[in-house]
Amino acid sequence: MLKKTGTQMSSFGVSKRVNHDSTPFYSRALYHNTDFRDKDIDYTESSVSEDIVDKIFCQDSRDMYQLSDNSVHLMITSPPYNVGKDYDENLSMKEYLKLLKDVFTEIYRVLVPGGRACVNIANLGRKPYIPLHSFIISDMLEIGYLMRGEIIWDKSASAGTSTAWGSWQSASNPTLRDVHEYILIFSKGDYKRDKKNKKDTITKDEFMKYTKSVWQFPAESAKKVKHPAPFPTELPSRLIKLYSFQGDVILDPFCGSGSTCLSASKLERHYIGYDNNKEYCKIAQERIKREFAQFEFLLHEKPSSQYKYEKKRTKNKK
Ligand SMILES: C[S@@+](CC[C@H](N)C(=O)[O-])C[C@H]1O[C@@H](n2cnc3c(N)ncnc32)[C@H](O)[C@@H]1O
Repeated sequence: MLKKTGTQMSSFGVSKRVNHDSTPFYSRALYHNTDFRDKDIDYTESSVSEDIVDKIFCQDSRDMYQLSDNSVHLMITSPPYNVGKDYDENLSMKEYLKLLKDVFTEIYRVLVPGGRACVNIANLGRKPYIPLHSFIISDMLEIGYLMRGEIIWDKSASAGTSTAWGSWQSASNPTLRDVHEYILIFSKGDYKRDKKNKKDTITKDEFMKYTKSVWQFPAESAKKVKHPAPFPTELPSRLIKLYSFQGDVILDPFCGSGSTCLSASKLERHYIGYDNNKEYCKIAQERIKREFAQFEFLLHEKPSSQYKYEKKRTKNKK
C-alpha cells in the first residue's frame, strides 16, 4: 500500500525526499529477484572473549581461527595490491583474486548478521586498466554479501599528484590520472543492525557529510607511518562512526601499520587486526601504544566522557 503523505519518484525527480515512498521503485522489473536478504535471519551474536580483542595477530588472515562465527560487527580493510610493494608476492590475477576471496569468505563467517564489510581498493595500470573494484564486487556478491553502495575517495588534495598523462595535450593517447580510490560497502544477511542498548557516536554534521558518496581528504604519508601503503586514519574513523556502535568489534584482516585498529580504539570500539608481516605487526602495536600514551595524558587534562573509556581499557588490560 502506498503511503498517503510524502514524496514518490516522478519523471522529473523530486527536490527533497520527505517520508519518501520507494515501493513503486522497488516494484519495477529491474528489482525482480534481487532481494537476497536472509528472510529467517537470526540476529544472535557470539561474544568475543577479552583475550582476543584489542590485539594484532601476526598470521595469514585466510584462517582467523581465533574468531567465532557471528562475532565481529564491522570489517574495514585495504587489501595487498600485488603490484610489487615491499610486502607483495607476485601472484597471477587468478591467484590474487583467490587470496582476497578466501579472506572475504572467512570475514563472512565471522561477521554478525547485519555486520558490515568495507573494502578500500584502487584500480591498476593503463594498458589495460584493471578494474579491481569490479572484480571484488563480483566475488563479494558470489560469497553472498549484500552491496550497500560505494564511496569514491577523492584524494586529489594529496601532495605529489602524478604527471603520467600520456600524450601531452594531444588526443593521440592521453591517459587518465586516477585521483580516486573506492570504498566498497557490503552487509551480511541484512542491511540493518539491531541496535539493542548500544550507543551511536556520530554527530549530525558528520552524518550529513559521511552519507554522501564522495569523500575528500588527503592520502597518508608512507614515510610517517613506516608502511608502504597506509590509508589515513580519517578513512576508518568515518566508517566506524557511520557503520558501528560504541563497544562494537572492528576487524582489519590486512591491518598493516594498524590505522583501522588505532581509529577503533580512539572511538571506543574494540579492534582485532591481522597481518602476516612481523615488522608491520610491530609497527602497528607500537603506533597504538604511542598514541594511547598521548591519549591517556590528555585525559588527565580534560576529564570528559572519555574517562569512562580509560576505565574500560584498564579493566581489559588485566
Ligand atoms: C595495503 S596494506 C594495508 C595497509 C593498512 N591499511 C594501513 O593503513 O597501514 C596490505 C597489508 O596486507 C598484508 N598481507 C598481505 N597478505 C596477507 C595475508 N595473506 N594475511 C594477512 N596479511 C597479509 C601486508 O603485509 C600489508 O601490510
